[in-house]
Amino acid sequence: MKNLAVLTSGGDAPGMNAAIRAVVRTSFSRGVHAWGVLNGYSGLIEGNFKRLGPRDVGNIIQRGGTILGSARCPEFRTEEGVELAVRRLRGAGIDGLVVIGGNGSQSGANALRRIGFPVIGVASTIDNDLFGSEVTIGVDTALNVALNAIDNLKVTASSHRRALLVEVMGRKCGFLALMAGIAGGAEAIVIPEAEFPPEQLAERIQDAYERGKPHAIVVVAEGAAYNAERLCRYFEEHELLRGFEFRSTVLGYVLRGAAPTCRDRLLATRLGAEAAERMVASESGILVGEEKGAIVTTPLEEVVAGNKPLDSWFLNTADTLAR
Ligand code: F6P
Repeated sequence: MKNLAVLTSGGDAPGMNAAIRAVVRTSFSRGVHAWGVLNGYSGLIEGNFKRLGPRDVGNIIQRGGTILGSARCPEFRTEEGVELAVRRLRGAGIDGLVVIGGNGSQSGANALRRIGFPVIGVASTIDNDLFGSEVTIGVDTALNVALNAIDNLKVTASSHRRALLVEVMGRKCGFLALMAGIAGGAEAIVIPEAEFPPEQLAERIQDAYERGKPHAIVVVAEGAAYNAERLCRYFEEHELLRGFEFRSTVLGYVLRGAAPTCRDRLLATRLGAEAAERMVASESGILVGEEKGAIVTTPLEEVVAGNKPLDSWFLNTADTLAR
């Protein structure tokens, strides 16, 4: 192994830069040259590579986003796209690739593995829906941003005696909504994994009003059948809420853009360094993640086929805690 490349792909996640830095500096310490691929799999297909030395990744551990850029690349989902990417990598003398990203990115990594190119994944997505890592890079920061917002929203909701529906990202996964809802003391949480009819939600909000609560915070996952906007429209059309006035706030991309927390910087550093060590040792076809505080690896084919359920304790306890 003389040259390895690293890319970030899919939605950016706070901590990606810390992971890039760890990959670059660990390979340097092992006498292997590191290359950055610009703009994810699109850059791979275009052969958009940039040599990265230890100084090129200075002063980035604290920055959100990704210095390499990221993209969603439909062309890489085709056989021709994957083959072209491998030709580009081989043409540049690159012997292995580290892919920092979530589900879509690791499916891409698995496609490279299938056609025999050495690849190692690093678990990174704010959604925390990736099999093979109990927690992924970016989750802790996204949760803390959501919590700050919820705390602020609770203040204004209480001043006006309002119900506020707060929508958080997460694609089809309710992890961010569930955890932010519990840690933020929400009156109700709406997630795709445990849907219930809007009428039932309205009853719960009404009940909070009648018990004298000054506010009701409802955390809604963007992937729920009724997102915040649809819920508000439904409540209005069916005149379901008689007590609180209600409003909605969509947190959206705000969750992705923050500076990484200490937890995310350390996680990203560990996972990035481990991925580089394993690549230098000629390992391939695995995702590097964290389970119960320890670094673990999982074959990429299991990662892409796997399903990561929500923690059942949190799932079952959310309602009790909201009373
Ligand atoms: O996967 C991360 C994520 O932020 C999801 O939570 C969200 O649904 C999606 O990416 C948004 O994607 P895009 O950046 O392509 O709009």
